[in-house]
Amino acid sequence: MPYDRSKPYDDLPLLPPEVDIESKEILKKCIIARSALAALKQAGELIPNPTVLINTIPLLEAKVSSEIENIVTTTDKLFQFASGNEEKADHATKETLRYRQALYQGYLAIQERPVCTSTAIAVCRTLRDIQVDIRKVPGTALANDATGEVIYTPPEGETIIRNKLANWERFVNVNPDIDPLIRMAIMHYQFEAIHPFSDGNGRTGRILNLLLLIQEELLDIPVLYLSRYFINNKSQYYALLRKVTEDNNWQDWIIYVLEAVEETAAWTTNKIKTTLELLSHTCDYINQSLPKVYSRELVETIFEQPYCRIGNIVEKNIAKRQTASLYLKKLVEIKVLKEIDVGREKLYIHPKFFRLLTQDENSFEAYPFEKKS
Ligand SMILES: Nc1ncnc2c1ncn2[C@@H]1O[C@H](COP(=O)(O)OP(=O)(O)OP(=O)(O)O)[C@@H](O)[C@H]1O
Ligand SMILES: [Mg+2]
Repeated sequence: MPYDRSKPYDDLPLLPPEVDIESKEILKKCIIARSALAALKQAGELIPNPTVLINTIPLLEAKVSSEIENIVTTTDKLFQFASGNEEKADHATKETLRYRQALYQGYLAIQERPVCTSTAIAVCRTLRDIQVDIRKVPGTALANDATGEVIYTPPEGETIIRNKLANWERFVNVNPDIDPLIRMAIMHYQFEAIHPFSDGNGRTGRILNLLLLIQEELLDIPVLYLSRYFINNKSQYYALLRKVTEDNNWQDWIIYVLEAVEETAAWTTNKIKTTLELLSHTCDYINQSLPKVYSRELVETIFEQPYCRIGNIVEKNIAKRQTASLYLKKLVEIKVLKEIDVGREKLYIHPKFFRLLTQDENSFEAYPFEKKS
C-alpha cells in the first residue's frame, strides 16, 4: 500500500533501517562531528567551576528548543527568573525553565538506566508539568501551521506505540558497534515518527539526543547547544524527517544531524573558551581596581549566571549580607555589574557576560585598565 500521510502510520518500519546507514559519506561526516564533540568535552573540563556551563548553556538550549514550538520568551527574562523567583515568571518563561529542569532530570535518570521509554515519559512529564502518558486516543496528527494541511499522522493505539518504542529502545542500546552519533540520528527520527505523546514530542526527543551523548560518554554534562542548529535550519529539519518517511532517505537525515553536532559543538566550544577569557580578564580588572573586594570565588559567582542576587554571594559564604551588598555596589561602580530593581528586590546583571552568552559572536570589549605586570 502506498504511504498515506493522512492515515495513522501503523506500518512505520521497525529499526534498524533497511538501508546503508554507514555509507562512506556518513562515516566521513561522523569522524568530523566526533572530533568537534571531543574538543567540546575537553573545553568543558577546562572550566574550573562547571556550574557556569550547567546554568547557562542548557538555558540557551531550552530557549531555542521551545521556540520551535512557538513558546517565545526573552533571554533576559529567562536568566532573570532562572536565578530565583521562578514562580513569578510568565507562562512562556516558566515553560522554558521546565525544559532545563527536564534536561537535568533526564541527566539524573540516565545515571540509573540507559535512555528508554520511561526516560522519555519522565522528561515529557517534567516539560509539560502534567501526568503525560503514551497516547491512548486517536487524533494526533502533524499539520502545517500556515495551511492546516496534514503532514504526517503517527501510529495509533497504545499497544502499537509501546511495541515500536520497545524496538526503538532496544536499537539504541544494543548496537554498540554503530557509532553513537549515527544511532542518535536514527533514534531521533524514529522517536518523532512514533510520536508517543499528544504534545511535547519534539522537545522530549531533542532532550533525549543530549542524554544519549552523555550515556555514550561523548559529553560529561548536557552542554551541547544542539537545538540551535535545528531552529536555524528548521525547514530542512522538517523536510528531512518527511523524506525518511516518504522516500526511505536516511542518508540525508543522518548527514544533517551530524552537521548539527559538528556545528553546535564548535559553537559551544568557542563560547566556553571566550567565557574563560572574559573570566580571567574580569579577575584582573577587579583585582586591580578593587583589591579589597576581589576574590576568585566572588568573580566565579558572578559568572554562574548573568543575573545575580545578594543572596547568591551570601549562600557561597563569601560575605555576610551587608558586606555582600557592599561588594556588589562596588562592582556596579566599576561597571562590571548593573543594578536593576525588580519589585522589592535588587538584581545585578552582568552585562558583558550576558552579551557574550546571547550574541553569536565570540568577543567582548575589554575593561579600560592597564594590567600591571
Ligand atoms: N514529518 C514529520 N515526521 C515526524 N516527525 C516530525 C515531522 N515533522 C515534524 N516532526 C517532529 O514533531 C515535532 C513536533 O511535535 P510536538 O508538537 O508533539 O512537539 P513539541 O515539543 O510540542 O513541539 P516542537 O518540536 O515544535 O517544539 C517537531 O519538532 C519534529 O521533531
Ligand atoms: Mg507541540
